[in-house]
Amino acid sequence: MSNKIFIGVAWPYANGSLHLGHIAGCYLPADIFARYNRLKGRDVLMVSGSDEHGTPITITADAEKITPQKVVDRYNKEHTENMEQLGISFDLFTRTTTKNHESVVQDLFSTLYKKKYIYKKSMNAHYCKNCSRFLPDRYIEGTCPHCHETGARGDQCDRCGKLLDSSELEDVRCKLCGGTPVLQNTEHLFFSLSSFESKLLKWVKNKKYWKSNVQKFTYNWLKGGLKDRAVTRDLSWGIKVPVPGFEKKRIYVWFDALTNYLTAVGYENNEEMFSKFWKDGEIVHLLGKDILRFHAIIWPCMLLAAGEKLPEKIVAHGWWTVAGEKMSKSKGNVVDTIQEIEKYGVDAFRYFLLS
Ligand code: 2FM
Ligand code: ZN
Repeated sequence: MSNKIFIGVAWPYANGSLHLGHIAGCYLPADIFARYNRLKGRDVLMVSGSDEHGTPITITADAEKITPQKVVDRYNKEHTENMEQLGISFDLFTRTTTKNHESVVQDLFSTLYKKKYIYKKSMNAHYCKNCSRFLPDRYIEGTCPHCHETGARGDQCDRCGKLLDSSELEDVRCKLCGGTPVLQNTEHLFFSLSSFESKLLKWVKNKKYWKSNVQKFTYNWLKGGLKDRAVTRDLSWGIKVPVPGFEKKRIYVWFDALTNYLTAVGYENNEEMFSKFWKDGEIVHLLGKDILRFHAIIWPCMLLAAGEKLPEKIVAHGWWTVAGEKMSKSKGNVVDTIQEIEKYGVDAFRYFLLS
């Protein structure tokens, strides 16, 4: 086993406060793991940062009548402070709106486009005539065709975790005006996930040392086949698409956020760090189970397409539930970790969460 270890922890969305569910399910376990490895004498690089693009942020900005930049500045500051207050010992906590990251994402996107793993395709997407716009991801809600959850979003169903194409949703409505959108033809760029299906199946099959539910879920999803996915969106907030004709669209937020693991390890600006921790180190990701598909399927496909090494371990935790429900702001059942550490002290509260 390499003495060097890269710990890439899921990037929290900069569109709301962190609560006990985020800390218990992701950041505290990652911190304990990093501290354990440091004590063992391993060279550790633990990174994360604010995920600052995509529709959750523009929806918050629209609701508060402020710019998306104001929203992300507020939550980036708050999350950075919270991580410190909770003793989460990141070596680097950055953000997806840096110039360096924009350049890494655009270069990776262009490389995949040149290799033909990203290609143009016309598709039907939901258009709202009242709002005169296409409705990407969270601008649309509908019924999941797989589990029949009525509040599924345009790109993923939170209940069954399946990745969706908004054209698959049933009984759709526009999140902005409540109206019924129509399907209209438009051109997007697609990532050829299907090119990597058999390679990925082989990769996951050997991962018997992963938590068995994580390995089994991933293997079973892959056996169900991989469909190519759109990696551009009709939005103005996000990283610009480096392909002529797509000036008005932006890169899909997940392509951008996942790539930040590479940016943070110095992919373009620190060759020494990149060699040490990515090429020669052990790569481990820690995340909540709701985003396992992005890390165990889409991310490894992106790395294979780029010709880079794949992670050794993907660790996904379950949720902290309250009366059987996932903790979430929309359900009104969140516990504020900062209030708890003010009452009990940080070590006692961390110990309680762990035990
Ligand atoms: O689910 C989330 O909160 C996402 N912001 C996680 C992104 S993790 C990664 F892509 F880096
Ligand atoms: Zn579903």
